Amino acid sequence: MKTYLVTGGAGFIGSNFVLYLLRTHDDIRIINVDKLTYAGNLENLSSIEHDERHIFSQTDICDKPAIEALFAQYKPDYVVNFAAESHVDRSIATPEIFAHTNVMGTVTMLNAAKAAWIEPDGSFGDHKYLQVSTDEVYGSLSIDEPDSFFRETTPINPHSPYSASKAASDMFVKAYGDTYGMPINITRCSNNYGPFQFPEKLIPLMINNALQHEHLPIYGDGKNIRDWLYVEDHCKAIDMVLSNGTIGEVYNVGGHNERPNNFIVKTIIAEVSKAVNDPAINQTLITYVTDRKGHDRRYGIAPDKIKRDLGWYPETKFEDGIIKTIDWYLAHEEWMKHVTSGAYLKYYDTMYRNR
Ligand code: NAD
Ligand code: DAU
Repeated sequence: MKTYLVTGGAGFIGSNFVLYLLRTHDDIRIINVDKLTYAGNLENLSSIEHDERHIFSQTDICDKPAIEALFAQYKPDYVVNFAAESHVDRSIATPEIFAHTNVMGTVTMLNAAKAAWIEPDGSFGDHKYLQVSTDEVYGSLSIDEPDSFFRETTPINPHSPYSASKAASDMFVKAYGDTYGMPINITRCSNNYGPFQFPEKLIPLMINNALQHEHLPIYGDGKNIRDWLYVEDHCKAIDMVLSNGTIGEVYNVGGHNERPNNFIVKTIIAEVSKAVNDPAINQTLITYVTDRKGHDRRYGIAPDKIKRDLGWYPETKFEDGIIKTIDWYLAHEEWMKHVTSGAYLKYYDTMYRNR
């Protein structure tokens, strides 16, 4: 039996990954370590409440003694580190928390894994540490050069405090591989969408606002491009890298699905309006607002390496993924009500009302 220590497993991608692992593997145990910040939600895991293969621990990845105790108690074979502050807009407002969680949290996890795994001869046995990173560490591409892509060899050039903190954590992970010979992989994926995504991010925010007849705030001219990846395809990629990725390697994971924000928002309007049969959900809800500071223009991944070496490819077409996603949010009204109560309203007010 393999034991996975998954951090951030109550957040968007982490909870999808935990559910994916339990669905696709029998003989495993997952130790899910999550601080439950505003972005973490145990309701995401309600379907596995009684699954004995899943153990939840409300723990901060920066809490060294608590993390060391979890390693001593559960002796994980693998670490998959999702836990992070993940929202670019929040990083522009409060960079320090991003440096703390994303950089110091990663170093704390690396140190604890190293101490628990290293043998007297300096070897690490059959363990692996996988860092879930982002294509944002590569910076931005031009919308006028559609044939240029982020590759694993693209120089790191982060722009936002969020991507700077992710790039710094990637460098620590690489350093633990290079210096101590720790078995690591780094995955860098493009924008995920799907169930359980917190409605501060573009797609769930637009779905929720459309349903409420709230305005749909598009930053700048809306021509910025993101490369959308259905979350389950990302989960599969992480699982494949964990089992078959070459030690020390970075793998880019992309949806081959670049779309301008204007297209995404217009698609959401059309599909939500159709799904709930409400003509008041239409393009008059769109409001162009002040651009994000330092807004990256385009992300686009060439996922050639993970395709060639591991046989992974994005299975979900955007046309299907967006319908599945909208249907999920429509069927989970209570989830949306829960996550958008209290502190969310204050966040939303600060972020958008006077934008
Ligand atoms: P999320 O914000 O939805 O979830 C983050 C989770 O981490 C939450 O459950 C939160 O409670 C937990 N967390 C935060 N600080 C913690 C701490 N100090 N200790 C323990 N837990 C803590 O994020 P997400 O969108 O699911 O992203 C997960 C990871 O994937 C992040 O590392 C992010 O950088 C990366 N990533 C995300 C995307 C995307 O499109 N969402 C794309 C590329 C990479
Ligand atoms: O590329 C991977 C990254 O994708 C991850 O590393 C991040 O954790 C994740 O949050 C995401 O970052 P983005 O900044 O690309 O995602 P976000 O959903 O915040 O924004 C997507 C695009 O939509 C971006 O160009 C900004 C724009 N946008 C966003 C919001 C929330 C708007 O125009 N209006 C909005 O209200």
